[in-house]
Amino acid sequence: MHRFAGKRVAVVMGGLSAEREVSLNTGAGVHAALRENKWDTVAIDWKAGESLAQRLEDAGADVVWNALHGTYGEDGAVQGLCSCLRIPCTGSGILASALAMDKVMSKRIFESNNIPTPRWRVLPHDGPADGSDASTLAERKLPIVIKPANEGSSVGVSLVEDAAQLAPAIASARQFHGPVIVEDYIAGTEVFVGILNDRVIGSVEVRPATKFYDYEAKYKRTDTKYLLPPEIPADVLARCEQHALASYRALGCSGHARPDIRITPAGEVFVLEVNTLPGMTATSLLPKIAKRAGMDYATLCEEILASAT
Ligand SMILES: Nc1ncnc2c1ncn2[C@@H]1O[C@H](COP(=O)(O)OP(=O)(O)O)[C@@H](O)[C@H]1O
Ligand SMILES: [Mg+2]
Repeated sequence: MHRFAGKRVAVVMGGLSAEREVSLNTGAGVHAALRENKWDTVAIDWKAGESLAQRLEDAGADVVWNALHGTYGEDGAVQGLCSCLRIPCTGSGILASALAMDKVMSKRIFESNNIPTPRWRVLPHDGPADGSDASTLAERKLPIVIKPANEGSSVGVSLVEDAAQLAPAIASARQFHGPVIVEDYIAGTEVFVGILNDRVIGSVEVRPATKFYDYEAKYKRTDTKYLLPPEIPADVLARCEQHALASYRALGCSGHARPDIRITPAGEVFVLEVNTLPGMTATSLLPKIAKRAGMDYATLCEEILASAT
């Protein structure tokens, strides 16, 4: 029997981050799937100005299925709120969520666990708004990637191929909360690894039609190709999944997660980050990976529910 059989499940979605729209799609999908399997569910679209604690109390929530993405939802804040309210919440806990959302902390932890991650340095959030501190990067070999340390969905991420693009890229990343990460660009293939309950369930290769997998390519374009399984040599894929699982464990994640990995043409593997609340619509990548592993969407939603702590 399911751990939460007979309990009321609040699917919390929307939220206050830049990824609000994506979250509403995740939440609608999860809510419908749980409904179909006869769960007593309430959909909570958490909006700015509302008390989430009050909404959960009003709904009589016994457990939270966290369908949020980005700030507050993915960074440990909602996990902390649920913990104070004594309501179990799906996904990683407070610390792992906060660490995974912060790319500076994630990279420090990867490095101290010998998990390969692109060479990097950090620029302060409160540097010049026009990015004129780009001059301090003069020694870096281009191309490089510039991105905000605490965002998701490729928001504020730029590929810099010539020096004139440096200052605008820094300025753009600096518009977001937190420091700016400057990272070596890893040419090659991108693979997302699906993890559920401390186990790799499969991987997908992402092939954008454009050179860079930006917000447009992620959510707006229809010509990004997703290859399941990835078209890379078996030994490289095995290494990729091994590093993905190691990064999940190093950050202390639990439940579901989806590390982002880059692989060079020579087969060298680099972990970019771990997404602790990946997209979870019926057609999102983690559900696609699960399906290939023999687990349908509703079952995946129930498995994630069972992992709530
Ligand atoms: N160092 C890098 N080398 C190559 N591509 C990168 C690098 N960093 C980011 N990217 C590209 O930008 C996308 C978003 O960056 P990522 O670090 O995953 O942040 P986000 O949290 O926004 O998803 C990645 O999926 C990848 O395609
Ligand atoms: Mg990413």
